[in-house]
Amino acid sequence: MNNFVFQNPTKIYFGKGSISNLVAELSKVGPRVLLTYGGGSIKKNGIYNAAISSLAKANKTVYELSGIMPNPRKEKVYQGIDICKTNNVDFILAVGGGSVIDCSKFIAAGAKTDRDFWQSFLVNQEDCYDAIPLASILTLAGTGSEMDAGGVISDFENNLKLHYGHPLLFPKFSILDPEYTYSLPKEQLVYGSIDAISHILEVYFSKPDESNLSDDLAEAILKNLITNLDVALKNHDDYIARSNLMWCSTLAINGLISLGKEGDWMSHEIEHALSAFYDIPHGAGLAIVHPNYLMHVYKSAIPKFAKFASNIFGISSSTLDEEGRARAGIIALSNYFKQIGAPTTLGEVNIPSSEIQKIAKTVNLFNTSYARKFSLKDIESILVKSINHLEN
Ligand code: NZQ
Ligand code: ZN
Repeated sequence: MNNFVFQNPTKIYFGKGSISNLVAELSKVGPRVLLTYGGGSIKKNGIYNAAISSLAKANKTVYELSGIMPNPRKEKVYQGIDICKTNNVDFILAVGGGSVIDCSKFIAAGAKTDRDFWQSFLVNQEDCYDAIPLASILTLAGTGSEMDAGGVISDFENNLKLHYGHPLLFPKFSILDPEYTYSLPKEQLVYGSIDAISHILEVYFSKPDESNLSDDLAEAILKNLITNLDVALKNHDDYIARSNLMWCSTLAINGLISLGKEGDWMSHEIEHALSAFYDIPHGAGLAIVHPNYLMHVYKSAIPKFAKFASNIFGISSSTLDEEGRARAGIIALSNYFKQIGAPTTLGEVNIPSSEIQKIAKTVNLFNTSYARKFSLKDIESILVKSINHLEN
């Protein structure tokens, strides 16, 4: 394994009823709290009332920022920064999925600087020196934002969706109650799970590939995710399935399985470009791009891809050689995404093939783990492959 440093400071309260810990946690923070949330799902499923009741019990003055939409945009961050600066907010409580938590992370950082958050953090990737402490109550398992230090914000005017990470952006604590995900529409359950699968694959398919615990853990999480997603899709309120899915998603990107690994993240980079132009759900974009990306690079690591095919999809047919098994594993992944109801072609999310060149030009090119520095041609080729469902 490569050398590594590991520190993840987020405290997790996991399980049914774990919101009961909120009052005690809130008693440790300052009196003025910004409550952030999305388009209203938390009002329908009762989570808003539970959060407000705890805030009242902890004697907090509450400010609210609602309407944080999927693929959160920079304008909403400015709105939150303004509330925090005007009211000297001490603490941010984000209640929602990745969009709400990500938006809140940049409010937290932006409120503690005179610099423009978008230009400084997302565009210039400058250092962050201070941030308002924040916590999350998770309502959608997938992004892992509840226990990671990163976030993604969009500027739709300029078709940019950019990522930034800093240790000051780790939530202080996160409340993970699997029952809070019962109210998710089926497609969000599917997209969140695909996002988690993709986070695992971004790291698993990267060097080094010699025997290492991180890859073994990655395989275990992948298998658990696939098994429990199948159960949750059949039985919406299955607590065991929901609890496994929630913890798998957190572990997929909280740093554990990337220890000693290079990581890759080019599929995420390409997906962010699709979302920046077409505002599609992140998990939907990944279902289209990730298998096609893997098909583009697998030749650099055929034994690893064959191992994936065998260990995850049980493909060990003696009629296929190692390369045949490697390809069959990637096709099985794409077929699995299709089978659980995700799009696997650009057309299904209304992205015309005529737009490929325009989108490809905006993708940030970097060194991928297996396949050297990517070129514009590589990106175009992956997007052209994404016009049709992947076949052998
Ligand atoms: O806005 P509301 O009304 O709350 O509805 C949301 C939203 O429409 C709904 N929802 C959430 N929890 C619900 C619920 N509906 C019913 N019941 C519940 N319990 O689901 C919809 C999608 O929510 P959103 O937060 O956008 O989804 P997700 O958690 O997938 O977040 C996606 C964003 O996170 C970024 C993505 O790029 C995207 O912008 N990511 C963040 C990462 C990170 N911080 O580390 C990593 C990821 O790779 C990803 O890039
Ligand atoms: Zn993701």
